Amino acid sequence: MRTLTRDIGAHEGKEVTLMGWVDVRRDHGKLIFIDIRDWTGLAQVVFIPKNKELHEKASELRSEWVIKLTGTVQRRPKGLENPKMASGSYEVTATGLEVSAKAVTPPLDVSSNGLDISEEVRMKYRYLDLRRPRMQKNLRNRARVFRFIRNHLASKNFVEIETPILSKSTPEGARDFLVPSRIHEGKFYALPQSPQQYKQLFMVAGMDRYYQFARCLRDEDSRGDRQPEFTQLDMEMSFVTREDVMAVNEELLITTVREMYPEKKIQEIPFPRITYKEAMEKYGTDRPDIRKDKNDPNLLAFCWVIDFPFFEKTEEGGWTFTHNPFSAPKPEHMEDLLAQRNIANILTTQYDIALNGFEVGGGSIRNHTSAGLKAVFNIMGFEDERIMRNFGHMLEAFDFGAPPHGGIAWGIDRFMMLMEGEANIREVIAFPKTGDGSDLMMDGPSEVSPEQLRDLHIKIVEKKK
Ligand code: AMO
Repeated sequence: MRTLTRDIGAHEGKEVTLMGWVDVRRDHGKLIFIDIRDWTGLAQVVFIPKNKELHEKASELRSEWVIKLTGTVQRRPKGLENPKMASGSYEVTATGLEVSAKAVTPPLDVSSNGLDISEEVRMKYRYLDLRRPRMQKNLRNRARVFRFIRNHLASKNFVEIETPILSKSTPEGARDFLVPSRIHEGKFYALPQSPQQYKQLFMVAGMDRYYQFARCLRDEDSRGDRQPEFTQLDMEMSFVTREDVMAVNEELLITTVREMYPEKKIQEIPFPRITYKEAMEKYGTDRPDIRKDKNDPNLLAFCWVIDFPFFEKTEEGGWTFTHNPFSAPKPEHMEDLLAQRNIANILTTQYDIALNGFEVGGGSIRNHTSAGLKAVFNIMGFEDERIMRNFGHMLEAFDFGAPPHGGIAWGIDRFMMLMEGEANIREVIAFPKTGDGSDLMMDGPSEVSPEQLRDLHIKIVEKKK
């Protein structure tokens, strides 16, 4: 059995087998030192000249070679401990060495934090980039947080359910990624911008409480906090008011921070609530950074932003929704919505959660009657035929007895970025896209064969120069 580098101290005086990568080799005259790296960190190994054959083999080792090593563990001499290493009070004197795989010189340094390496190189060789301790930490902490959230939500009777990736174009505000259908000539699936409609239909189906770590796809340019493909912690609950959804999420955010990031301090509990109007007047943004001390990397200033206008004017002079067409207005504005009057003053039940100046989540109580939903589309000027074509299934479903319901989705990449003190969500996503939406490692998007295009009834028309 292999021993992990962090555990060698438990085997003092005994022989262990370590497996991993050569981090560095240092030749000190007669002694050769290597640091062997596995997912738990590093261990220092020393090769002494007495064992000539082994010593010679060690002198050939290069960084990033994969090795299997046996040796005896001993305490390092006083003063030579390395407090930066988990195993830094011990070292291993090698008694055997097998090279499992040699490695060519990597095109990037994998032991630094990597922040000064160009994006092109990091993304092209992402599997090497992920070897660095910082990226190992980020992905492993992401997994710990996901597991914690799963357990928490399961204990509150939430059911984890997946929803389709091949879906239908929906009006969520961003551009859809489309997938041509082979069987249905000239028709397209859309990749989901979010599971919004599906999760509401789960409520109609009586699932009561749903959640999912949902992949969402939006054909928009990348930014530091935006990727065309990202993950939401998506949830929906039946028989709830705005207060219920906010309370469940506030509790989950607080316990996640306390359990997973005890070194962090939440500025104010309960989270302050700011209306959209106040936020715009006071901070000039609807995701205010209300931190009292912006120099403190461990300070988390959550706040809720509420009372958004439901509609805003389009350039053409009509109306469109500000957040989500499926939202309900605040109860006191329902009459105006149904009567389609005072449109500019109708407020939505939308609640956004801002953290240190980032929008990390948003949701609302939904319009669970077909009349309410239809009024939203009527205000937006949709003809009945278009409403039925796009949303007929939702209106129909709501006529079969829909419970009052509401939900939220967290941008979990943004949340992890802030928890890990990173400046870009790429640092907490295993295989992100570059600024222009490319996957440099796989070389996507790519051309496809004429046969594939023919099967999909697609003809590429070259742009006229
Ligand atoms: P919304 O569009 O506000 O709501 O998305 C919810 C949260 O997802 C995050 N987010 C993103 N993160 C990374 N890259 C992106 N391109 C990106 N776009 C959004 C944000 C945002 O707050 N269905 C509704 C939720 C609901 O009403 O329940 C929705 O998708 O943190």
